[in-house]
Amino acid sequence: MQTIFIIYWSTWDLAKRKLFPALYNIFKDKKEQNIDIIAVGRRDFSNEEFIQYIDTETSDFIEKEADFKAFLNTITYSKVELTKSEDYSKLRGDINKYEKKETQVIFYLSISPEYFDAFVDNYRYIDIKDAKIIFEKPFGTDLETAKKLNTKIMEVFREKQVYRIDHYVWKEAIQNILAFRFANIMFEPIWNNNYIDNIQITASETVGVGDRWWYYDNSWALRDMVQNHLFQVLSLVVMNPPSMIDSEWIRQEKLKVFRSIKLWNDYEKNIVFGQYDWYLWEKDVAQNSRTETFVAMKLEVNSWNFIWVPIYLRTGKALIEKSTQIVIEFKEVPDILFKKFWPISKNRIILEIQPNEGIDIHFNIKENWNSKEVERVKSKFIKEIESKEAYEKLLEDAIVWDKTLFTSWEMLEETWKIVDNLVNCKNNCPIIHKYEKGSNGPIASDILLENDRRKWYG
Ligand code: BG6
Repeated sequence: MQTIFIIYWSTWDLAKRKLFPALYNIFKDKKEQNIDIIAVGRRDFSNEEFIQYIDTETSDFIEKEADFKAFLNTITYSKVELTKSEDYSKLRGDINKYEKKETQVIFYLSISPEYFDAFVDNYRYIDIKDAKIIFEKPFGTDLETAKKLNTKIMEVFREKQVYRIDHYVWKEAIQNILAFRFANIMFEPIWNNNYIDNIQITASETVGVGDRWWYYDNSWALRDMVQNHLFQVLSLVVMNPPSMIDSEWIRQEKLKVFRSIKLWNDYEKNIVFGQYDWYLWEKDVAQNSRTETFVAMKLEVNSWNFIWVPIYLRTGKALIEKSTQIVIEFKEVPDILFKKFWPISKNRIILEIQPNEGIDIHFNIKENWNSKEVERVKSKFIKEIESKEAYEKLLEDAIVWDKTLFTSWEMLEETWKIVDNLVNCKNNCPIIHKYEKGSNGPIASDILLENDRRKWYG
């Protein structure tokens, strides 16, 4: 079967860093797939100029082998203004050149949200029955815009054709959360409020917003990372076991989590917004911008097993390290035996998502033969085989119509409801704390936990 990928916008950062490298790997692994790529952009490139451009721009992200030239030959550039209907007819002409009897067409829409309407309205000039449309985030900027967008999409496409993505759920270590929890008997009995003291989920990045400021300044950490990636991770950590490993069953359990996320009553006190000190000097950012590049918060999930367990989330840019991890911190042991005499560390399970994938378990043992003291040791499992890039896996799933990991509209609806509340909270919150580039974020984020007599781990 032949697959035609149509990549909008092909000159964007995501295309060079993730999509073209992923497509090259698919091209290499699945020669029988017979892939053609139509790269859509607004710039005046000839085909040769675009190929030269993408060859140079992807150099840092692709290990090019002998067949890279053959891969480049699968690419055709097509200049399209998304608001001009005649450009869609021209694009249809370009698709016709490749279309064979057994062809599927996959559109990958990574465009500014204000163009989604234009794309949907003009799709009739392309009109490929059964084409798959992958929608990159942001899917709206709040519940209302997301609803409008969804209604618009559903006027033209059938649900079967619509692929809403959150690339985090294709990360191998994220998928492993369910296996870790439900393919072992020893963790689940203690995976609840009887034993867990608190849960911490951190996604920190070293990069700033760079040349994405125009997107980020209207998106902020809340919409860019929390509404999607962090909530998806949280749902896997606290959901009940689904009755089957099947997309619909898993979705239903995730939905229950989103519906039971509870902001603490005085939640202004439980959320910290930060902005790195250089943010206002990033190219063209408004001097009074209140965009948060960092957010830390405390939430609760109103479920039988997790109520009363504080869940701390934090994410930020321009921080000291790139790291995504989940820390499950257990309650202290009763202080009648060892703890009566020596300080004893809490047990922890740390699920490392990136840059290393692994699981780290902290427990206590006796220090050595001539001491009665207890010390903490770590038992660490590190995944050594490099996993496939999330984008490669998601494109492969789209090729074979596997919608298991794609986000449903209901999930988006529920997560936007929560984020709308958090945005209200930001509007009522006068302080956006400054933090130094390369630090751990604002001090206020540490105080958030210190107030609960806890500390961020790591
Ligand atoms: C994207 C955000 O969805 O995720 C970016 O828009 C962020 O701002 C990126 O940098 C992080 O993804 P990853 O896979 O690099 O952790």
